[in-house]
Amino acid sequence: MSKKKKVNVIGAGVIGITTALILQRNGYQVQILAEHWPGDSNINYTSPWAGAAWRPHFYLYPKKNVDKFERISFKAFWSLLQIPDTGLMSTTIYDYMDKKPVVYRSDWFKEFFRVLPPYKLPPGVEFGLSYTTITINGPKYIRWLLKQFTIAGGKIKKVRLSHINESFDDDVDIVVNCTGIGARTFGGVQDSTVFPTRGQTVTVWAPHIKTSCFRSKFNCITYIIPREDGEVVLGGTYEENNLNEKPNLKTTESIIQRCRELCPELTSSKGAHALKILSYEVGLRPSRIDGIRLEIEEKKNSKGKDIIICHNYGHHSYGYSSSWGSCLEAFELIEAAITNERGNEKLNSKL
Ligand SMILES: Cc1cc2nc3c(=O)[nH]c(=O)nc-3n(C[C@H](O)[C@H](O)[C@H](O)COP(=O)(O)OP(=O)(O)OC[C@H]3O[C@@H](n4cnc5c(N)ncnc54)[C@H](O)[C@@H]3O)c2cc1C
Ligand SMILES: *[C@@H]1O[C@H](CO)[C@@H](O)[C@H](O)[C@H]1NC(C)=O
Ligand SMILES: *[C@@H]1O[C@H](CO)[C@@H](O)[C@H](O)[C@H]1NC(C)=O
Ligand SMILES: *[C@@H]1O[C@H](CO)[C@@H](O)[C@H](O)[C@H]1NC(C)=O
Repeated sequence: MSKKKKVNVIGAGVIGITTALILQRNGYQVQILAEHWPGDSNINYTSPWAGAAWRPHFYLYPKKNVDKFERISFKAFWSLLQIPDTGLMSTTIYDYMDKKPVVYRSDWFKEFFRVLPPYKLPPGVEFGLSYTTITINGPKYIRWLLKQFTIAGGKIKKVRLSHINESFDDDVDIVVNCTGIGARTFGGVQDSTVFPTRGQTVTVWAPHIKTSCFRSKFNCITYIIPREDGEVVLGGTYEENNLNEKPNLKTTESIIQRCRELCPELTSSKGAHALKILSYEVGLRPSRIDGIRLEIEEKKNSKGKDIIICHNYGHHSYGYSSSWGSCLEAFELIEAAITNERGNEKLNSKL
């Protein structure tokens, strides 16, 4: 028996923790290093600010394997629904699109979605789908995820790294890069193709809202996402390269107006004053020109020991929806890299 491989995962957002959990469940000895953790509120920590709903992203950004990742993740979330305290809830979603997208036609989507007949569409909407989905109370879900990791013996370390090499501890074999928007400025990483896409939301108390609604026109998506605890997240905006962490009043008003139009039941047909507002929030989606970066790099630490690096960042607006799938892919890349390394060692020993 070879001894357990040691892994440092950098980042404690939904991507870092999910990757850590999959590696741990497959026999690796895992530590998470991160500056921000579940429970923290910071503009540089995206996961707590997400709506969030599992919803395929029909027209945004280069997708690569995103639809495969979303499919795997849906199944994983579905199997977690029965567990208490995950922050997950199943719900029906009405997904309206002012322009019909092309991608929805893949086979899996066909069996999954019901296309709404034209008479059921609001004015101005060309195409609509309805399906059963899962909404995710982001802050609660990542707390639950982290707990699964720590009760199984996972180690955590609160630290801000200024360079990736600071994670190359002597006994570490593998480092996973799940730094989200941090990958833009992270020393040794500095991926200039990563950029923020600002999202502003309003969280209200509306336990009578049980269905989710989305309406998309180009880069403007209005959404209503009910959570299991009676809170409902209203959104949204997609503002590229806007780093303003303060909620903008005009944007708030626009969100509320768009959401009331989409779902009059929000205020039970009374005025906007009937809304019970809990908070105004801003998050920065970790966008990347070529989509998610899932890639292996081989490096050496200061003692000349080989270290496998696996990148897993740039999840834009689908970090939750694609989490289990993309983190499973990261795990598979790592396993393949180890097999490859062992093959090379064996070869070298014979030459
Ligand atoms: C308004 C809004 C709505 C959204 N809605 C949805 C939705 O409905 N569905 C969906 O799937 N997604 C949604 N998203 C997107 C989703 O939130 C992100 O894709 C996801 O949270 C990204 O997670 P992450 O783990 O990559 O990054 P983060 O959560 O930002 O985590 C990054 C981690 O890396 C750490 N880190 C970074 N740099 C360093 C460093 N130098 N040293 C130490 N630690 C470091 C941070 O401290 C943090 O722990 C939404 C986002 C927003 C803003
Ligand atoms: C977020 O990160 C940027 C870049 O590293 C930094 O300049 C800024 O101060 C951080 N903001 C907060 C609130 O921590
Ligand atoms: C990491 O790399 C930087 C830049 O090359 C270097 O200055 C620093 O000493 C290195 N730190 C460690 C811990 O190796
Ligand atoms: C993180 O990503 C960058 C590339 O953007 C890479 O150069 C760096 O080595 C990565 N660090 C880790 C720890 O994976």
